[in-house]
Amino acid sequence: MNSPPPQAWLNALLVLIEKFQLALLSLWHALGLTGDSHGQPAWPWARRVAGETLLIDLGLARQVGLSLCALVFAVLAITAALAWRRHRGVLLAAGALALVAAPWPSAALLLVPAAPTSFHASPTRFSVDAIALGARVYAQHCASCHGADGRGEGPLAASLAQWPPTLVSPLLARRVDGELFWHVLAGMRDRHGQPTMPAFGNVLGLREAWAVIDYMKALSAGGGAEGNWPVPLRLPEMAIRCADAAPLALSQWRGDQRVRLVAVDGMASLPFEDPRFLTVLVTPDGQPPAQVPRFRAGCAAVSSHAWQAVAAIAGQSPSRLAGTQLLADRGGWLRARGTPGRQWSDADLVCVSGPDAGAQRAPSPATDGLTALLLRMDAEPVRFVKGGFIH
Ligand code: HEC
Repeated sequence: MNSPPPQAWLNALLVLIEKFQLALLSLWHALGLTGDSHGQPAWPWARRVAGETLLIDLGLARQVGLSLCALVFAVLAITAALAWRRHRGVLLAAGALALVAAPWPSAALLLVPAAPTSFHASPTRFSVDAIALGARVYAQHCASCHGADGRGEGPLAASLAQWPPTLVSPLLARRVDGELFWHVLAGMRDRHGQPTMPAFGNVLGLREAWAVIDYMKALSAGGGAEGNWPVPLRLPEMAIRCADAAPLALSQWRGDQRVRLVAVDGMASLPFEDPRFLTVLVTPDGQPPAQVPRFRAGCAAVSSHAWQAVAAIAGQSPSRLAGTQLLADRGGWLRARGTPGRQWSDADLVCVSGPDAGAQRAPSPATDGLTALLLRMDAEPVRFVKGGFIH
C-alpha cells in the first residue's frame, strides 16, 4: 500500500494520543475519581498507550489511525441520524459499518503497563541546582551499583542477581520521565517478583528523586562517545546576570536565541562576544570575572552549581573544565561541545538526533568550522522522541 511518509501523520497521531490521555487524566482528577501521587494527579489505570511501540511499528500505528477515523465517522453519522430523521436508517447503517470494518488494533500490542506517575512532568526544568543536588544523591545512593560513571560497574554490581544497566545508553531517553521516577521510588522486580533495583521511596524526597534523574541524564551525556549523546539534553536552566541588571532565568532572558556557555576560571582568557549567540560565562564560584571589557561576554551564571553541572554534561572533571564550551540551538537543545584550544568543527556536534541523524554531510568549504556547525544545527532541529512522544 502506498501511504504518505510516516513523519507526516505519525507525529500528529502521537501528539493526539498524548493529549487525549492527559485530558482523560485531568478529567478523572477533576471529577475526584483519582487522587494525587507524589504531588501530581495519579494515572488511575494499570496501562497506557505504548507510544514507543507505535513509533517503530508503523503497521500498528496505521491501524490506530484508521480506527480513530472510523470512530469519528461513526460518531458523526450517529449524531446526524439523531437530527435528520429521513435518512436515519442509512446513517446508522453507515456508522455501524465503519465500526465493524475498522482495523481495531490488538490491545496487547497497543497498551503497556503504566505507573501512577507515568504522566508526571519533572518540575526541575533541568536546572543546574537540580543537577548538583542529583549529583550528591547519586554519589550517596546509586554509584555503589550503577558506578560513578553510570556504566553499571559499581563495586556492588557483581554481587547482584542482575547486573545494573548502563545509564550511558539510550535507556534514559526511551523511558518516560514519570516511569523512571517511579522505578527510583518504588524499585523494580524481576519476572519472579524478586527485587532487582531497590526502592528509594523512604529515603529520597520528591525533589531529590527528580534531581537524580536530571543528574543521570547529564552523566549519560558526559560519558557518551563523541558526536553521539545517547540522550538529547536541554540547555540547563540557571540564573544569569548581564552587566549590572538583576539576575534572570536563562530561559526567560531570550527566546529563540542560540546560547553558548563558556567555562572561564580567570586564568583562561575571556571569549569575545559573538552576535550569533548569547554568550554566558560560567565560573567556578558563580562570581562574574572582576573586570569584563565591553567587547567581551557580558553575561555570567550566578549559581556556583553551574560549573559542576557543565562539567558533568561535558564529561570533564571540574578542575579541568576551564575553556570548555557548550552550544545550544534556537530550540534550547545542547548540540555541540567545544574543546579548549581547538577550532570548532563538525566533530564537536554531540547531539545529532534530528530527522537526518546519521546522514553523511559534505563539508562546506566556503565557511569556517563554527559557521558550518551553526548552519547544521539550524538545518537539523532536534525532534526528541521520549516514550514514543515527540517533545
Ligand atoms: C543495589 C544495587 C542498586 C542500587 C543501590 C541502585 N540501583 Fe538502579 N538498578 C539496579 C538494578 C539491578 C537495575 C535493573 C533492574 C531491572 O531491570 O529489573 C537497576 C535499574 C535502574 C534504572 C533503569 C530503570 C528502567 O526504567 O529500566 C534506573 C534509572 C536506576 N536503576 C536508577 C537508580 C538510581 C537513581 C539509584 C539511586 C537513587 C539506583 N538506581 C540505585 C541496581 C541498583
